[in-house]
Amino acid sequence: MPQDSFGREINYLRISLTDHCNLRCVYCMPLRGLTFVPGDEVLTASEIEQVAKAAAKVGFNKIRLTGGEPLLRKDAVEIVDRLQKIEGITDLGMTTNAILLPDLAQPLFDAGLRRINIHIDTLDPARLKRVMRFGTFEQIWSGIEAADEAGFAPIKLNSVVVRDYNEEDVVDLARLALERNWHVRFIELMPLGGGECARLSLSQYVPNPETKERIETELGQLREIPPTSPSDESRNFRFGQGAGVVGFISPVSDPYCGTCNRMRLTADGKFHLCLLNDHEVDLKPALRNGGGGKAIGDLLAQAVAQKPTGHRLDEGVSTQRRAMFQIGG
Ligand code: 5AD
Ligand code: SF4
Repeated sequence: MPQDSFGREINYLRISLTDHCNLRCVYCMPLRGLTFVPGDEVLTASEIEQVAKAAAKVGFNKIRLTGGEPLLRKDAVEIVDRLQKIEGITDLGMTTNAILLPDLAQPLFDAGLRRINIHIDTLDPARLKRVMRFGTFEQIWSGIEAADEAGFAPIKLNSVVVRDYNEEDVVDLARLALERNWHVRFIELMPLGGGECARLSLSQYVPNPETKERIETELGQLREIPPTSPSDESRNFRFGQGAGVVGFISPVSDPYCGTCNRMRLTADGKFHLCLLNDHEVDLKPALRNGGGGKAIGDLLAQAVAQKPTGHRLDEGVSTQRRAMFQIGG
């Protein structure tokens, strides 16, 4: 397994399939002034497969497909099919907003996808519209049900907590962990990309200790469960009853850089070395000028070696060049 210069074992590659999205969450995508990677700059299914194969060869075993919204790619199911066949990739997941899952949950499951994380900020239809702006609660809920019926287990729901938008709604979301075997996870806002979303992410930030207390006051005490993996960025809890899990992902109040095991590939073929930094290593020349698997593997090794650690979110310092929808979380 590749180790970085801080001795961290980097075995997890997040691949952004596209920077487009069919929602416009207030903290992630502005309504105006968006520019997207031109179509011919976006990696093809075959190029993504080449990178994944090279990554598996140097010891990566875990891949997650992200976006923007990954299911906007017409070839999303084909990409899953290609990647799950790669020897050495033992864990393939996807993060989606579920809008397209009513039609795609079963084909994705049949293609071999087993892990799915779904982004939903509130169960209240009016407030969902306010924070996620496009799409409806009904669409997302149908997508979650479709994933459940297709056999994905456990389903993980991710909610980004935003002051004045959904901070009270964490209780209803957490209640799902009493009713179902789902994992419901709360994510602290991070200011990425330097624009209006980054500003909102700073001003509307809610620390996870506050969210946890709100949940416990209404629903009872949460008991921490030991991490299954040291690099799990979520601290996980259960109520005294109920099959589900409540998790807290706290990059701001409780940074987990020390156990970070991940590398990110952007839709336009750049290794982004840390979510909260601007360092990148461009793969496209090697991919398009016939460098082959060896060249890609070397670039990946180089990217791992250069991976930084530690962020300065508490000082408001973050990546300026890319927003979340351009990296994939
Ligand atoms: N802070 C924290 N998480 C975010 N996401 C998007 N924007 C932010 C932000 N500013 C999460 C959402 C999204 C995934 C890509 O990252 O859950 O679906
Ligand atoms: Fe789309 Fe997720 Fe960004 Fe919302 S947070 S706009 S669903 S990529």
